[in-house]
Amino acid sequence: MGRRHLEYAVIAGMLLSGTYALVSGMLAHLFGFPQFFLHRWAGYVCAALVVLHLALHRKRIWGYLLAFRQHSRPGISPPAAPVPQPRPGLDRRGFLIGALAGLGGFLLGRVFPAPQTPTEGDMGLQYHRWSMPGGSGLAGLRLDWGLRPPATKPYPGAPRIVLPSPHPPGADLWGIIAARRSRREYLSGPLPLEDLSALLYAAQGVTEPRWGFRAAPSAGALYPIETYVAVHDVAGLDPGLYHYAVADHALERVRAGDLRAALVAAGVGQEMLGTAQVCFILTAIFQRTRWRYRERAYRYILLEAGHIGQNIYLAATGLGLGACAVGAFLDDRVNDLLGVDSSEEAALYLLTVGRVAA
Ligand SMILES: Cc1cc2nc3c(=O)[nH]c(=O)nc-3n(C[C@H](O)[C@H](O)[C@H](O)COP(=O)(O)O)c2cc1C
Repeated sequence: MGRRHLEYAVIAGMLLSGTYALVSGMLAHLFGFPQFFLHRWAGYVCAALVVLHLALHRKRIWGYLLAFRQHSRPGISPPAAPVPQPRPGLDRRGFLIGALAGLGGFLLGRVFPAPQTPTEGDMGLQYHRWSMPGGSGLAGLRLDWGLRPPATKPYPGAPRIVLPSPHPPGADLWGIIAARRSRREYLSGPLPLEDLSALLYAAQGVTEPRWGFRAAPSAGALYPIETYVAVHDVAGLDPGLYHYAVADHALERVRAGDLRAALVAAGVGQEMLGTAQVCFILTAIFQRTRWRYRERAYRYILLEAGHIGQNIYLAATGLGLGACAVGAFLDDRVNDLLGVDSSEEAALYLLTVGRVAA
């Protein structure tokens, strides 16, 4: 290969590898990928080719630098001497420098490997570490974890609907576990109030009245999760937003009205939020768990929402209904819909439930 061809090949290689490294780096950053296919190697290849390119043009560069230095000295005119012309072909020295540059780039990549997972910016991982016993250090001791708040949330003056006693059908647990699926296509027509009653009982119903223990487990029996239901189509209930009053197995109407469009918008356009007969909205009153469990509270709260969500899934399946968890929603929109102050109580988890084809 003639020297000129080699130079063109090096320039083309630099452009290709550099562009790939740049674009893949930008895409990885944009979508939060910790790795991008061959990104690192494209960077090394580009760096090696740059060094090779400099080596191939070292005389020209050197000549230019010398001329520049003399030119910039006051009183000295630019050199009249001709710029040395590079010899055609790649000489042994050039080849050696190129090979060494490639090797150097490779070794540099080994010595300074790219960071694997950018954990430092990941608040979730930082929180997980911080919430380990001793993880918060002295800072944890100095934080004010507050006092125990009321265990239940009252809605004084809200219209109350006492729910029918839940009579869950005798069902085969193992069959239900096997049959549970996320169902997003719902049939029209009202949901019987008895079904909603059974679903609420499964979610958070009091199963041991003496101690107030509920259907889903709770760290320290502190029960930070509140259950709301956006009712779209339930026999005997006006459409609107309801709060589940656990102790009385009753619903309190927070707001009447058709919430379908608002919920679909809050759920980033997921149509099932409007086509399901009901949508459960699980919120947390953080302080209920925080005062006791401190830095571990947030972990427990999320775990508890998961327990309740699974109970709703299984109860829906047992009733011949379909359910689907929804984690993708606009928090502020949902919190506004509920009318809660998100620094104290915030939506964590939505679950649609509706009638489905057998
Ligand atoms: C925390 C969580 C959030 C989810 N968020 C959504 C969601 O926003 N939209 C959706 O259609 N499905 C959502 N799902 C349902 C999952 O897509 C579903 O569970 C998964 O595809 C497995 O299917 P299966 O539930 O039928 O076993 C979510 C599930 C979980 C556990």
